[in-house]
Amino acid sequence: MPHDEDADATSAREPSLSPAGDRERPVDPVALRRVLGSFATGVTVVTSLRDGVPRGVTVNAFMSISLDPPLVLVALDQARSLDAIIQAAGAYAVNILGEDDAALSDCFAGAPVEPGRDAFCGAAWRQGMLGMPILDRAIAHLECRLEQVVRLGDHDFLVGRVVSTSGDEDEAQPLLYYRRRYLRIERATSSPLEGNAEH
Ligand SMILES: Cc1cc2nc3c(=O)[nH]c(=O)nc-3n(C[C@H](O)[C@H](O)[C@H](O)COP(=O)(O)O)c2cc1C
Repeated sequence: MPHDEDADATSAREPSLSPAGDRERPVDPVALRRVLGSFATGVTVVTSLRDGVPRGVTVNAFMSISLDPPLVLVALDQARSLDAIIQAAGAYAVNILGEDDAALSDCFAGAPVEPGRDAFCGAAWRQGMLGMPILDRAIAHLECRLEQVVRLGDHDFLVGRVVSTSGDEDEAQPLLYYRRRYLRIERATSSPLEGNAEH
């Protein structure tokens, strides 16, 4: 039987992702957005300072990277005005929102409300150890010195070293975000963790 080298080379280069053996197709951005929306997250307002004026934007792309050293990251679209502000300030704060603060999330995501984002959504705040704006209503916060910026696709990953926090013993409930809707945790349906959460 003749050996088909081309066929071997093709299957090695382009592993099929579907049982039907379809070739990879470009991912539909609308479908991708919907699929990514299936991942439920909390909601934060990431803040920084420009010329002493507080600025903030709603962000759910927040994650921990490392406990020792204490590193976290937020991912901002490179088009976000806050991206350049954070890079100039060299610091930012992550403010984790509680379940009653969907309006604050909308405001910091640019909703047409008064007072609007230019007026820091009328939110009461104080300065943290690095001078970053900490929202009084946040159920927890992490204030970070900017450690590294990783440019990937159309987003910047802003890696921060955590220098101050609050909220570690607070029982306040977080605001959740899932498929373009805000949700609350229903405590009655929660189940205990059996896997190992230390990573
Ligand atoms: C729940 C929620 C989560 C969001 N998460 C992010 C995010 O992780 N990164 C990001 O760049 N924008 C995110 N956004 C979008 C920005 O908050 C929004 O587009 C804002 O208006 C951007 O500000 P700009 O006018 O400076 O671009 C999110 C919006 C919402 C409502």
